[in-house]
Amino acid sequence: MRLKNKVAIITGAGSGQGKEAAKIFAAEGAHVVIAEWNEDNGKSVEKEILNTGHKATFIKTDISDENNVKELVEQVISQKHRIDILFNNAGIGFSSRSQYKMASVLETPLDDWNNILSINLNGTYLMCKHVLPIMIEQQSGNIVNNSSLNGILGVTGADAYTASKGGVVALSRVMAVDYGKYNIRVNCICPGAIDTPMIQEVLDNPEIAKNYEAGPLGRVGKPEEVAQAALFLASEESSYITGLIMPVDGGWSVV
Ligand SMILES: NC(=O)c1ccc[n+]([C@@H]2O[C@H](COP(=O)([O-])OP(=O)(O)OC[C@H]3O[C@@H](n4cnc5c(N)ncnc54)[C@H](O)[C@@H]3O)[C@@H](O)[C@H]2O)c1
Repeated sequence: MRLKNKVAIITGAGSGQGKEAAKIFAAEGAHVVIAEWNEDNGKSVEKEILNTGHKATFIKTDISDENNVKELVEQVISQKHRIDILFNNAGIGFSSRSQYKMASVLETPLDDWNNILSINLNGTYLMCKHVLPIMIEQQSGNIVNNSSLNGILGVTGADAYTASKGGVVALSRVMAVDYGKYNIRVNCICPGAIDTPMIQEVLDNPEIAKNYEAGPLGRVGKPEEVAQAALFLASEESSYITGLIMPVDGGWSVV
């Protein structure tokens, strides 16, 4: 029970890594708030957790909408009176390419650029902007941001996504510096290729998938493997770690 009685908001917890984190955090004793814009998925994860006897609440949220984020935080405070953990996990990527062009700078329309950044980077900023005052008042808090290897390496072909994830890395570092004095830790995970709906189509293509299997461990990651890294950073086991930018990539980035 590493998160016993903690209140943990996980964004994008209706699918993939966020869903696994919600289940693991709840099993470790946290009351998990599923902040997700996909209502069906959010409700289904809530039900799955409640059915196991653990605690979860789904609150429909679009993290790119400041009013939505403000209402989410107000609702959590009115019900639970505190926020101990914020896992900023929600994001859009390859699976949204029918909506937004995932391409290099010259092929990326400004509207698509703005929309991708408004979720992946602005959404992270908005969540922090509204949760940090609560954590400062508590004089304790723990933020884990989900970036990507794209945020630290020159992975081509999705430049708005890459810029948004680079922004999340930089923001994580500076927030660790700014808010450490309030006993708030901020860390950042950079997953490699993880088997979730976001990259399902890529993984189904053997030609492309083999690039992702080229790291030392020779396979793509599972969403629960990222969730376990998030659990470590969100728990007291990492109490002296802040400002860490942690690849969870089967060693892909060191080759
Ligand atoms: N899968 C990978 O290979 C991979 C690699 C590196 C980083 N990531 C990052 O990991 C995070 C989790 O992605 P995943 O792989 O679990 O993908 P996923 O598509 O399975 O899950 C993303 C979740 O975020 C939600 N979401 C998206 N925009 C939202 C918004 N505006 N408001 C609320 N919820 C929103 C989606 O509905 C979905 O439930 C993302 O930030 C992604 O960029 C994924």
